[in-house]
Amino acid sequence: MTQIDMALQGRRFGETQRRDLWWLQPLAVFLGLFAFIVYATWAAFQGEHYSYGPYLSPFYSPEIFGSSSHAWFGPQPGWWPAWLPFSPAFLILWAVGGFRFTCYYYRGAYYKAFWGDPPACTVGEARKSYRGEHSFPLIMQNIHRYFLYVALVFLIFLAHDVWKALWFTDQASGEVSFGIGVGTLVLTVNVVLLGSYTLGCHSLRHLVGGVKNMLAGTPIRRRAYACVSCLNRAHMRWAWLSLFWVGFSDIYVRLCSMGVWTDWRIV
Ligand code: FES
Repeated sequence: MTQIDMALQGRRFGETQRRDLWWLQPLAVFLGLFAFIVYATWAAFQGEHYSYGPYLSPFYSPEIFGSSSHAWFGPQPGWWPAWLPFSPAFLILWAVGGFRFTCYYYRGAYYKAFWGDPPACTVGEARKSYRGEHSFPLIMQNIHRYFLYVALVFLIFLAHDVWKALWFTDQASGEVSFGIGVGTLVLTVNVVLLGSYTLGCHSLRHLVGGVKNMLAGTPIRRRAYACVSCLNRAHMRWAWLSLFWVGFSDIYVRLCSMGVWTDWRIV
């Protein structure tokens, strides 16, 4: 067999022979994620207008301590350090934030969009060595499976929020009655999208799929594997839809609580 020896040429950062709009996708990812991070941080620091009637913003759910009627253990605890700002969102957003941050899809997206590492396929990157995710600090990304366990529990809380969003209290009589408002639908869509994103997780696919590269034997596990794989094929789409909608859900509850929007009752 003939062999040709060729010297590998390193590219400068951003150098490429591609003629297509390769920069468009990383730019859109950068703008989308940046806008979400700025809004979510702002909303988390507000500590108010996160509930309206039976609705609770998903940024604040579950509300462990807080001032709304949804709080499990009452208002801000006395042991909270006085020098530290308090918001119920601080107690939980680390979990869902960590889940997204370590998601396999988002890693690929923000490595390109935020770190330019590389900016796109066959485009020169700034770093000359490749250490992958086998060494510190990126080896920490392997914690994703544990964030998945927490995210699955959060899904149950969010589904329970939808249930609570079906029961409205009459302010005058204090009577509780069944109803469906636009907010109920907003929170329902939120759970469906977050569920589709979470249940299509790569780690969950490995968990239900089997051990040592063998597909697990029982029919139930095979069916579960097929469902997770089906959601996983559109993981990127679920990631973006759920990200957008969870932000919109917070905006909806916030603006209703501030009296800017009216929550129309359908039933
Ligand atoms: Fe994206 Fe697990 S890989 S949520």
